[in-house]
Amino acid sequence: DSGPKYDFIIVGGGTSGLVIANRLSENKRVTVAVIEAGDSVFHNHNVTNVAGYGHAFGTHIDWAYETEDQKYAGGSKQIMRAGKAIGGTSTINGMSYTRAQSVQIDAWELFGNKGWNWGSLLPYYQKSEKFEIPSQNQFSRGADYYITYHGETGPLNVGWPIDITNRSMLPTLDQTFNQLGVPYNRDANGGSMVGLTSHPNTVNTKENVREDAARAYYWPYQNRPNLKIITNTFANKIIWANNSHSEAVAIGVEVTTSHGIETIYASKEVILSAGSLKSPVLLELSGIGNPDILRKYDIPVKVNISTVGENLQDQTNNGVHYQGTEFWLGYPTFSVLASANQIYGNNVSNVASYVNSSMVEYAKVVSNSSKGAVQEANILAAFKLQYDLIFESQVPYAEIVLLPIEGMFMSEYWPLLPFSRGSIHIKSANASMPASINPNYFMFKQDLDAQVDVARFIRKAFMTDPLSDLVGDEFAPGVDNLPDDAPTSEWDDWVKSNYRSNFHPVGTASMLPRNRGGVVSPELKVYGTRNVRVVDASVLPFQLCGHLTSTLYAVAEKAADIIKKQYRL
Ligand code: FDA
Repeated sequence: DSGPKYDFIIVGGGTSGLVIANRLSENKRVTVAVIEAGDSVFHNHNVTNVAGYGHAFGTHIDWAYETEDQKYAGGSKQIMRAGKAIGGTSTINGMSYTRAQSVQIDAWELFGNKGWNWGSLLPYYQKSEKFEIPSQNQFSRGADYYITYHGETGPLNVGWPIDITNRSMLPTLDQTFNQLGVPYNRDANGGSMVGLTSHPNTVNTKENVREDAARAYYWPYQNRPNLKIITNTFANKIIWANNSHSEAVAIGVEVTTSHGIETIYASKEVILSAGSLKSPVLLELSGIGNPDILRKYDIPVKVNISTVGENLQDQTNNGVHYQGTEFWLGYPTFSVLASANQIYGNNVSNVASYVNSSMVEYAKVVSNSSKGAVQEANILAAFKLQYDLIFESQVPYAEIVLLPIEGMFMSEYWPLLPFSRGSIHIKSANASMPASINPNYFMFKQDLDAQVDVARFIRKAFMTDPLSDLVGDEFAPGVDNLPDDAPTSEWDDWVKSNYRSNFHPVGTASMLPRNRGGVVSPELKVYGTRNVRVVDASVLPFQLCGHLTSTLYAVAEKAADIIKKQYRL
């Protein structure tokens, strides 16, 4: 044991990992190391530029994970983006700050995660947040809020970009969507998300730069002597104690640096925060997972949890775009979060009964596709919950982002709660080899139908006064290419040839009771281990209707308190 030693090792200095690192190192008596494959992007203009969404894609700070061929979605592979930098994916994301519908978080507790509900998570959303009250000018352009939902003293700047699109935009959208039954929602961050809203972003308005996890949780604290970030260092696997305990005990992490392979030791815990497309892979490389998979690569089984890497849930994104009749400057922040009732109108009960009658079959397909690793009864229970959320609770069913930018009026959308379930698993015992990522996009007819139905709803919105005055020709998909009454198969083809990942993968190390397919406990501890946790998007058991970072910051804040309590820090 000659390598460096810390109390806590956090693998991944990203969105979640830096929260844990910050909160644990508040206590001067503990030492914390963060192992991060990337480097500082503090001065990277592709990161800091508030209007630079997409500029970092494909650069050295984008992992650009490649999926397997998507057999239900036309066959081709997809790229799943994720940030490789101090700050992780928060350094390249779209900066939207929206949380979740309260009942979705309550469902975590309903499924056996004691202590996890909206009421107990809200204080952590607020703890992380430094809400910037919009200026009069921003307010006049749609920035609005209820202060009781927000925190004003946390590390994370949340607010609106300085220049929001012109003032007549919100009233125009409001009048239009009202006619489609979608009300205005002043502040979607109080647990009730449905409606047209101008949501805040993770942005530092004063400095006019992106607010990422590093700017919030790391850079202002970098001089703490007990907090060490080890960059350009790739974690390979957990190193275990040689013992006969019934629980596996981690003693450190094997890493690859520019000098070769080393071990960094942890006296208390190893916390995996490498993201939902990496933490489950690290578990498998460390011997925690499905024995059938581990044995293929001669990895000794430390803990048998067959659902590691299962339950992968992502969303799919398409765009419906128009020529504008005006030229818009400023940053658009408008989204429509529409419920199933609003999307489907009178047809909603038909859709609901179709879904209801399909779920048993869907559950069989998911279980079979996981070769039995996911139990049919477990996934069926999750589907029933999802059905209730969509059709009973009427949580948002789709997000439609409205983007009037210069001479174009674009929109991007994604159905929020697809039924498709995929997986991520190792293809080699060598940590530097890519994993097999298979989100199974459009695995089920309902998911493909939803993708088409929402596109049609958007088209209807753009044909409705007064929004219709702001647009000319539709250039994607284009009414000539794809008239309203085009056969469904043509709409399906358009969706499949143009969709992309919505970059919201969750669930690959779900927080659930073990007999329900969970990988981590409500304390976020990996079952069968004494001192390994996962804290990142992997642990969210179900997809959310909000964007993910707000909830990930809150979950990590709560996780930090759980850890501190256990060690009396
Ligand atoms: P995150 O990816 O942040 O952190 C993982 C860290 O681990 C990274 O720094 C990585 O380099 C490091 N790492 C991985 N493997 C390692 C290894 N073996 N060794 C060492 N380090 C390793 N959300 C939102 O709220 N609003 C939005 O607008 C958007 N938009 C959006 C756009 C795009 C393009 C993407 C890709 C994602 C979004 N999201 C988003 C989603 C959101 O940004 C994302 O879910 C979270 O940032 C994920 O946080 P995690 O903590 O799970 O992992």
